[in-house]
Amino acid sequence: MRAFVALDLPEAIRGPLTRLQAGLSVGRLVDEDNLHLTLAFLGEINPQQAQDLAVRLADLPDAPIDLTLTGIDIMGGRKPNLLFMDAAPTQALVNLQDRVRRIAMDAGIEMERRRFRPHVTLARFGKVMTPKDERGLAAFLSLNAPYSLPTEVADTVTLYRSHLTGEGADYEPLAEFLLTG
Ligand code: 2AM
Repeated sequence: MRAFVALDLPEAIRGPLTRLQAGLSVGRLVDEDNLHLTLAFLGEINPQQAQDLAVRLADLPDAPIDLTLTGIDIMGGRKPNLLFMDAAPTQALVNLQDRVRRIAMDAGIEMERRRFRPHVTLARFGKVMTPKDERGLAAFLSLNAPYSLPTEVADTVTLYRSHLTGEGADYEPLAEFLLTG
């Protein structure tokens, strides 16, 4: 199964994000229920590894995260594939990501080594963008790029299974971990 571990977003963040998405006329918007911040993308794992990981993730620290989303950007340069909000890479968030990765490695899961740029994806784009789409995206960015949200507490980490569908991905929560003990 294809799986990843994410920090779930509190309602106080998801609400403003969906209002922001409403102003975007380009791309496939990520559904409100699917908005998340990935801590570790696990790739393909087997059910035994998923179960082992779920047991081990119960050892996450009992410390909720102060989460600040600040600034909007695109990935992929001239051919953008996604639009996202950056999260401030606070020490607490970086430590949490590091801890999740170590736990996953202890469960025998191999992951790509990528620099951690904490973010929440808001929309994904197909390979081809019409000039109208490009203009729409540029207008959205020129208006919203500096957009920031007040800091909110995020207190739940979830192990998700990702089902790829024709319209994108569908995320199934397999196990939830509260950072409040
Ligand atoms: P993204 O939003 O930046 O695409 C499920 O696919 C989650 O895992 C997404 O949040 C995705 O990040 C993240 N992810 C990280 N590396 C990935 C990869 N190599 N392939 C697919 N998703 C990846």
